[in-house]
Amino acid sequence: MGNSRQKDVAGKIKYIVIPGDVVDGIGIYPQQDKELSIVDVYRQYEALADQLSLIPDHISMIIQPGNHDAVRPAEPQPTFEKEIQDLFSGMNMTFVGNPCYFSLHGVEVLSYHGQSLLDYATNIQHLKYNEPVETMKVMLRKHHLAPTYGGYTPLAPEHFDYMVINRIPDIFVTGHVHLAQISDYRGITLINASSWQTQTSYQKMLNFIPDSGKLPIVNLKSGNVTMMDFSKKF
Ligand SMILES: [Fe+2]
Repeated sequence: MGNSRQKDVAGKIKYIVIPGDVVDGIGIYPQQDKELSIVDVYRQYEALADQLSLIPDHISMIIQPGNHDAVRPAEPQPTFEKEIQDLFSGMNMTFVGNPCYFSLHGVEVLSYHGQSLLDYATNIQHLKYNEPVETMKVMLRKHHLAPTYGGYTPLAPEHFDYMVINRIPDIFVTGHVHLAQISDYRGITLINASSWQTQTSYQKMLNFIPDSGKLPIVNLKSGNVTMMDFSKKF
C-alpha cells in the first residue's frame, strides 16, 4: 500500500517504538465510556493485538505504558502484566516500563510517555503545552523527567529516583499530548510521537486540536528524522 516513498521506507523499518497510551482505557476522562466502542480494557488490548499482528515479523516492536494503560498510574510505571502480554504472544514485541532507556542498533533511546509535559507547561512560564519539544529541552537541562510532586503526574515514592535523566540519550521520545513534533537539542533528537486518535469530545471541550496520524521515522545510520503523514486517511 501507499506511494513509492512509503513502500520504500516501509521495507527498511526495523523497529517500532510505541511510547504509551496503547489503548484508550476506561474512566480516564469524564464521560469517556460514551465514546468507546470497546468498554472492556482487555478487549481493547485484543483489538490492538489484532492490528499489530498485521506488522511483519522482522520488525521488532517496543511497547510502553502511559496514563491510559492498565498498569499502575504512578510513575515510574511497570510494564504490562502477564495477562495483557499474553494477548500479544507470538509477536516480535518487547514490553518495557515508563520511562525506559533502550538501545536500537547502538542508538540510545530514552522513551517516556510524557504525562509531566503538562506539569512543566503549567509551572514554567515560557513553556506551552502545545510545544512539547521545547519542554523536552528543559527536561534534559534539568536532568529530570518529572520533578513536580502533587501536580498532574502521579509519582510513586521509590527509594531510587527513576525519573532522573542520568544517561544522555541519542533520541528522546515522548507522547501524551497528541502532537507531532521533531527537534534537536545539543545533538539529541527530540520526538513527540503524535497519536492515532482524532479529536475526542473532551479535547473539543478544551478547544484542543490533536495532530493525529503522523509517524516520525528515524534513520538510525544517519540520525535523520522525517515525518510521514497518514492523517489524510482519516
Ligand atoms: Fe497520555
